[in-house]
Amino acid sequence: MNYLYPVFNTTSLSSFDSPYLEGFKGKTGEVAFFIDGEANRHYFLGLGDPKHHLEVIQTVRSFIFKQKENLSTGVKIKFLGGQEYLSDIVQGAYLSDYSIGYLKGEQLEFPSIDFEADASDVERGQHFARAIKRIMRWGDAPGNHKTPQKLAEWIKASGEENGFQVEVFDKAACENLGMHALLGVGRGSRENPPVFCVLKYTHPEATKTVGLVGKGVTFDTGGVSLKPGDNMNYMKSDMGGAAAVAGTLEVAARLGLKINLIGAIPITENCIDSYAIKPGDVISSYSGKTIEVINTDAEGRLILADALSYITDKYHTDVLIDLATLTGNAIMALGYKAAALISPNDELAQSLFHAGLKTGEKVWRMPHWDEYKDALKSDIADLKNLAGSPIGGAINAGKFLQEFIREHQAWAHLDIAGTAFMDSEFGSMKSATGFGVRLLVEYLESQGA
Ligand code: BES
Ligand code: ZN
Ligand code: ZN
Repeated sequence: MNYLYPVFNTTSLSSFDSPYLEGFKGKTGEVAFFIDGEANRHYFLGLGDPKHHLEVIQTVRSFIFKQKENLSTGVKIKFLGGQEYLSDIVQGAYLSDYSIGYLKGEQLEFPSIDFEADASDVERGQHFARAIKRIMRWGDAPGNHKTPQKLAEWIKASGEENGFQVEVFDKAACENLGMHALLGVGRGSRENPPVFCVLKYTHPEATKTVGLVGKGVTFDTGGVSLKPGDNMNYMKSDMGGAAAVAGTLEVAARLGLKINLIGAIPITENCIDSYAIKPGDVISSYSGKTIEVINTDAEGRLILADALSYITDKYHTDVLIDLATLTGNAIMALGYKAAALISPNDELAQSLFHAGLKTGEKVWRMPHWDEYKDALKSDIADLKNLAGSPIGGAINAGKFLQEFIREHQAWAHLDIAGTAFMDSEFGSMKSATGFGVRLLVEYLESQGA
């Protein structure tokens, strides 16, 4: 049998009388190992003094993934304390059998995992791992395997399995609603038209409703304002916001959080054919505002505009948060370690910031002042989708979205372009992270949900 002991720098190992543990300090990622007289293998994995929950999850996930051959007969995880991080250890362990190579003929073998722990901690870790693995798979699915229809089906299936409602508006229904901005972006994809999903999770004791909006571009070529070819393959990940929203509803439903959630997910490809919108076109939107499309590659803000004005038109929400892989500029500003946060509401911004520090899914606030709005003035329409110059792009994009929230008083925008898809132990290419679920669930729980 293989045993794995997570060790924090405060954990006592005095009960193990083994010379192999001499000098082992339990520093993050440090490993000690011995085989006992009955051929049992004992692994000690250092978790140090964690800065946040994600560090624990990732250390465990990465260790088991990398050791999968040595652990092939199965692993039993034994806890020596660290109660606060127990469900993270479970989560990390269950995430370790994720594979980005699921379309290969030959599949990797993963060890079975067992725990000696309270059922409630194990369950919590499992709920997160299941939801996050599900949405990582969506993120890593190639564009031709996740058309808008397919992604909507996956969201619907998750709703049925996990206990939230999903309403899917097809192209005709979007036309009836007047979702001209979403439909405009979708014009370049006649075979795979846009859809709009509304997700609902309710709890009988809930006193608050939170709206969550996620960008669901299943592939972003840039449209007629075509992107350069290098790394364009990664634009299959342009639905990380949609994934985060669906994943959050899954975990909220599984944990039975005392909150009502309304999710709004506009889904489309951003492709090119003769019907596609062109730079300079003026389109309408659900809100009635007209938009001059300066650059068809700034498509995320167009589809979010419709989703934000739809949700603020149809529902009362106490808090409204959107998540989107919206701008390369957010990556230029913050790299891959934090999402850009834009919100005029100090309290909400603070709560999200603290939820980020605690979970490790960090967000950093950018300016939100109205001076930035000037860049969106158009001579021929109510506003344009792109400022003249590429500077301050993440902020400008956020200010654009703010035009569609009907003056909602507690709105936050998270640009997750850098955090939704990045390098990992799973392969040499970048892969989906599931960013946002842990952050949002922590935020909801911190608000008493
Ligand atoms: N999906 C991209 C943003 C993106 C870039 C996400 C890199 C993940 C990694 C978005 O639709 C886009 O193309 N944004 C443009 C906006 C520009 C035309 C104002 C960008 O960031 O270059
Ligand atoms: Zn784009
Ligand atoms: Zn995009």
